[in-house]
Amino acid sequence: MGRRPFIAGNWKMNMTAASGAKLIGELKPLVKDANCDVALCVPAILIPEMVKAAAGSNIKIGAENVHWAPSGAYTGEISAEMLKEYGVEYVIIGHSERRQYFGETDESVNMRLHAALKAGLTPIVCVGEMLAEREAGKTDKVLDRQLTVGLGGVDDITKVVIAYEPVWAIGTGKTATDEQAQETIAHIRKKIGELFCPMCAQKVIIQYGGSMNAGNCKGLMAQPDIDGGLIGGASLKLDFATIVNYDKE
Ligand code: 13P
Repeated sequence: MGRRPFIAGNWKMNMTAASGAKLIGELKPLVKDANCDVALCVPAILIPEMVKAAAGSNIKIGAENVHWAPSGAYTGEISAEMLKEYGVEYVIIGHSERRQYFGETDESVNMRLHAALKAGLTPIVCVGEMLAEREAGKTDKVLDRQLTVGLGGVDDITKVVIAYEPVWAIGTGKTATDEQAQETIAHIRKKIGELFCPMCAQKVIIQYGGSMNAGNCKGLMAQPDIDGGLIGGASLKLDFATIVNYDKE
């Protein structure tokens, strides 16, 4: 398939300039021989310092959100060009916490996605069902809607990374089983094939996220459709290096 694995951290609203730079400094030698792409998505205000801290290493820096407009009267927001100017390469879009607490919708996810692609950032688009939706047997239906609307109008889907994050597994310690994650991600790939083309779907990187850690990463990464992880809590410590090196002894 030729998909290069991709492990990314999502620091969320954690770390300071000092603790973040210290962690990156410690991670650098530990992840330098990774057989996957490596990124840390960090709070916007930390971006310049973290780009400096990661300079010369294989750790790329990402943002946690981006606005859809190139500029304008959007108090508190940050544009894709602003991120780009500071050396950002990736941006998380539509994380479930943004959807839950900040009213983001599939439509606004789609607008942010187009802005990111236009600026040459690699978007990491998050999708995932809530516990009640899974229990009601609606997982596939929810994902199909998130993908259809969220990815609408994209020319080259292979430039988009998808993160499947079941909401019930985020920060709860309750990870999806290897089989649950594989089955759902295989469904996502099939849907992308229907929306775009089956050949392109085989090239799209799809990560799993939700309580992924040093202990369960090997099993998840062994699944044929799981190409990486989006790591929350475990990306705040050296465990992140263990996950990045999941394929080594
Ligand atoms: P945890 O790894 O802390 O469950 O968070 C997952 C996540 O939301 C990454 O975006």
